[in-house]
Amino acid sequence: VTSATHVETEGTVPNTVQSISKEVTILFGSQTGNSQRLAESTSKKLGEHGFQVTVSSMSDFKPNNLKKVENLLIVVSTHGEGEPPDNALSFHEFLHGKRAPKLTNLRFSVLSLGDSSYEFFCQTGKEFDQRLEEIGGTRINSRVDCDLDYDEPAAEWVNGVIEGLRGAQQAGAETTPTVQTSQTSESTYSRTNPFKAEVLENLNLNGRGSNKETRHLELSLEGSGITFEPGDSLGIYPENDPTLVEMIINELNVDPETNVTVNKQGDVRTLKDALTSYFEITVLTKPLIEQASKLSSNKELQELLSSGNEAKAREYLNGRDLLDFIRDFGPVGDTAQDFISILRKMPARLYSIASSYAANPDEVHLTIGAVRYEAHERERNGVCSILCAERLQAGDTLPIYIQQNPNFKLPENPETPIIMVGPGTGIAPFRSFMQEREEIGAEGKSWLFFGDQHFVTDFLYQTEWQKMIKDGVLTKMDVAFSRDTNEKVYVQNRMLEHSKELFEWLQEGAVLYICGDEKHMAHDVHQTLIDIIENEGGMTREKAEQYVADMQQNKRYQRDVY
Ligand code: 2AM
Repeated sequence: VTSATHVETEGTVPNTVQSISKEVTILFGSQTGNSQRLAESTSKKLGEHGFQVTVSSMSDFKPNNLKKVENLLIVVSTHGEGEPPDNALSFHEFLHGKRAPKLTNLRFSVLSLGDSSYEFFCQTGKEFDQRLEEIGGTRINSRVDCDLDYDEPAAEWVNGVIEGLRGAQQAGAETTPTVQTSQTSESTYSRTNPFKAEVLENLNLNGRGSNKETRHLELSLEGSGITFEPGDSLGIYPENDPTLVEMIINELNVDPETNVTVNKQGDVRTLKDALTSYFEITVLTKPLIEQASKLSSNKELQELLSSGNEAKAREYLNGRDLLDFIRDFGPVGDTAQDFISILRKMPARLYSIASSYAANPDEVHLTIGAVRYEAHERERNGVCSILCAERLQAGDTLPIYIQQNPNFKLPENPETPIIMVGPGTGIAPFRSFMQEREEIGAEGKSWLFFGDQHFVTDFLYQTEWQKMIKDGVLTKMDVAFSRDTNEKVYVQNRMLEHSKELFEWLQEGAVLYICGDEKHMAHDVHQTLIDIIENEGGMTREKAEQYVADMQQNKRYQRDVY
């Protein structure tokens, strides 16, 4: 292909005779790093097929440059209740706003990541896909929505994109050889090839009488070659609760030793093993019950899934699990194989790493809150946290991998001041940050805000922080124990009390980090941050919001929230 002749193909399939640029722009919007990694692997693969690819975070991309893009690939995840990831926010807003350009020459395709147990599954990807069409774009390949187990659908999307691009480039041509999926030096451990890490320590950090149980886990990485940076997360593949597995098998009334095939590769496990380690059994999703209904003659289930009952179905899914489902609607299918065919593969649980590799080589530490609650008249347990709290001992192993998080990183300059807000288990990455800064002798100031229910029982890593303060590693620490006083105090109250100084730190270029609960804490802290900037900086609300948006753009405001 030599020159781009811009033949208009409006309303037609792009597989017609025309000449199309080999340049492709990939934009990603990523919270935990999956979309970024997929964008990068897509770029590599397109590169192998002779395309010239530019990859960029949506937040680093100048929207005005969109007009120059001919082939645009979007890889984006959906966060919380259907929201874009932080680094996709401004681009998403721009594209949906009045200033969005007409892009009739644009060819695009969207890969969206999500979790089908959420109502607004892959919402952000759907929005980009629809909007790009509205403003004139033509699809290179249909959008693919991926559930947690995204590897296969993502690979199919990439193949479809390549075909679409090639089809447009040289219709009918057979000259370009098909390049097989490159199995380059991915010999190290990864999400699809986890390392079995031995448990070195497993302690409860909370004191007697606490409402909470927070586990401190130390795992060995010896012999794995695995390293990581502060801010990265650890993925764990947990095992399900054996009692729950047993109850499900009893309800199904089949022999637990029945063999089932667990994947496309044909691996065989007993039903008991498959339900213990291979499949998710604690979450119901819409696709799951839809699949089940095809294998079941239960009238009530058909009724629940009939049109007009969407709200009712959503309500049913909320807080129920597989055991509830088979108790309510009976077994699914005729065989154990039928039954497992409706299940999702066990997803890994991600935890922000609580140690620095430089300070603790060959180890990784985690801070895990035990999740126990009641729903629909049954006690429910978090799969991974309760495995850690109740069944995991020193000497046992856990399948793990590192999930890099490029969006939560210490400043490159060790002299840059940092402000860290991490109540509850949100403290984890800051233990990693501070261990790292101590290890490398960083000179930058640091300020930690921590909160939890009670000072006496819930001050996580108290002695470590006190030592760091004494040694001058940590410059300042402010704590908020919410249930020691009549009136609740939260980290944001402490921030407000120190408004003036906090704003000074920001003016000096401090990077501000938030880790922990997204819905309540991170939201409220965000508002408080704007309040502080508005008041101390003598700015209008709008200016203060812009100040925070600029901080975000310049990676001076980073969040690791869940
Ligand atoms: P609470 O449970 O007493 O309400 C860690 O879980 C700490 O975060 C606890 O002290 C908890 O207080 C507090 N917390 C709860 N909601 C919060 C919010 N919206 N903002 C900040 N902290 C919050």
